[in-house]
Amino acid sequence: MTVKSVKLNNGMSMPEIGLGTWKANETGVLAETVKKAVELGYRHIDCAKIYNNQCEIGKALKEVDVPRDELFIVSKIFQNKHRPELVPGAVDEILGELGIEHLDLLLMHWPYALVPEQDTADFAAKDLENVPIMDTWKAMEAMVDQGKVRSIGVSNFNKKILEKMLPQCRIKPVTNQVEVHPYNPEHELVKYCQQQGIVVTAYCPLGGGAINVMNDDFIKRIADAHSCTPAQVSLSWLLARGIVVIPKSNHEVRLKQNLHTVTLTSDEVRMIGQIKARERKVDPSRDIKELKWIFHEDEAECPLI
Ligand SMILES: NC(=O)c1ccc[n+]([C@@H]2O[C@H](COP(=O)([O-])OP(=O)(O)OC[C@H]3O[C@@H](n4cnc5c(N)ncnc54)[C@H](OP(=O)(O)O)[C@@H]3O)[C@@H](O)[C@H]2O)c1
Repeated sequence: MTVKSVKLNNGMSMPEIGLGTWKANETGVLAETVKKAVELGYRHIDCAKIYNNQCEIGKALKEVDVPRDELFIVSKIFQNKHRPELVPGAVDEILGELGIEHLDLLLMHWPYALVPEQDTADFAAKDLENVPIMDTWKAMEAMVDQGKVRSIGVSNFNKKILEKMLPQCRIKPVTNQVEVHPYNPEHELVKYCQQQGIVVTAYCPLGGGAINVMNDDFIKRIADAHSCTPAQVSLSWLLARGIVVIPKSNHEVRLKQNLHTVTLTSDEVRMIGQIKARERKVDPSRDIKELKWIFHEDEAECPLI
């Protein structure tokens, strides 16, 4: 199965369906999952330092029967490496864990910094530190210059941050990876990114296993009409909007299913976008009120660009 690719604003191509890997090693089978996924046709693998599983993915990458230049490997800098002087070491560490010479895409995982000592995702307001986003971004641009990274992008960036950031970028972000699914359609942000030539990548494209998208009655009705599953409807709806998807699964049958999307009618695409239920899985501002500006930009201003 060959997955179609989207063109990025730097001329590179990114497969429109990738493999998510967050919490993918909880059953200890991640290396097998990655090998199976590549065998099935996945070429885009979404990793992150904070997922603590890149060594496992690296082991699998050594064993897959596909040349490196056919793979699109993504990873993300954790917030405790935002100081510009820490970025090169963070990239080297990611490359070392994955056992590769370059990343196809490096993302700034979140638009805020944590103190260097904070190396888990379990943090408090006291662990935040002031590092301007552009300082980190310039250090990421230097990684492209050095060839360690082919392209750079952002994740969890809202429209206001992008509006301030984009005029200052020497290298434009190729993607903004954000939570998008039928219960969090992000109409305005997606439209803005696409107008700017920034591809949106949807994380939690199935609702992340926590949100009721897979059991939504309307999604189920559309799935029945297409003789497919609610997961396939959600992914097909995102792809129809020009959004790249990175579903995670440890099950072969689902890995396969998630590659086989369907063509929805334009009415179905519009109506799924009008589902009233709204729910976001990932929102650090639920615990840390200092981060309120991240997903509630009308209520609080992003402090540092
Ligand atoms: N940038 C960020 O801040 C950020 C945040 C969150 C996630 N991400 C990335 O985005 C990826 C995807 O998000 P996610 O893993 O949170 O959620 P997701 O892909 O929306 O959902 C994964 C859940 O859905 C299940 N599933 C997979 N395929 C299915 C199918 N065909 N039918 C029914 N259930 C299915 C999986 O279970 P099984 O594994 O048991 O099949 C798992 O419980 C992550 O893995 C990570 O790479 C990035």
